[in-house]
Amino acid sequence: MNVLGFMASPRKGGNSDVLLDRFLEGARSQGAQAEKIYLYDCSIEYCQGCHLRCWSTPDCCSRWQDDMHMLHDKMIASDLLIFSSPVYMGTPPAKMIAFFERSIDQKRVNLETLTVESNTLRGKKAVVLQVNFFNDPAYQRLPLSVYERILAEIFGMTIIGSLGVEGVAEPGDIAGKKAALQEAYNLGAALCGSCDSR
Ligand SMILES: Cc1cc2nc3c(=O)[nH]c(=O)nc-3n(C[C@H](O)[C@H](O)[C@H](O)COP(=O)(O)O)c2cc1C
Repeated sequence: MNVLGFMASPRKGGNSDVLLDRFLEGARSQGAQAEKIYLYDCSIEYCQGCHLRCWSTPDCCSRWQDDMHMLHDKMIASDLLIFSSPVYMGTPPAKMIAFFERSIDQKRVNLETLTVESNTLRGKKAVVLQVNFFNDPAYQRLPLSVYERILAEIFGMTIIGSLGVEGVAEPGDIAGKKAALQEAYNLGAALCGSCDSR
């Protein structure tokens, strides 16, 4: 089973990074191949709003010499996608949203009937991991809804798990959340242990 984790905080070694690492450790404990990508290290040009052309023209976005092709190839080759991010102003961070906007070209849409003819991301399994500062899980509800809207409704993925850790601010704070880190490990192990395509 191939697991691909996207870490969408600019802070390497920060709370979302550590949470993702624990999940991936759990996945590896079940024999999964797990890779982590620092989204902030990737070159991702902003969407230029030509989605109708992207939907109908293969490689419309190939004029950008950035990392999106590489990222999509890795996603397509993966069985399970993990999205780990801090809450920023009540939403996922801008880099994550920029990445999703540029992924719209993974759908081919018949512009006359508006039917989706293909979608390389449909059916992928996904997990959402979140961290936030305020000691209230309510801050994760809106960003989780954003993930649900984008991953499930727009890209047709199935969100098979999510985990949020509140009350962490500085890098290292999450080390004090031992139960949550164990939960992340257990989730990685459980989801990868139960999948057939190992
Ligand atoms: C620009 C910005 C906006 C933030 N907005 C929120 C917020 O709306 N709610 C919240 O609880 N924490 C918010 N935080 C705090 C982060 O979610 C928190 O510090 C998190 O632990 C950072 O994760 P990291 O260590 O992976 O970078 C914000 C932080 C930044 C930098």
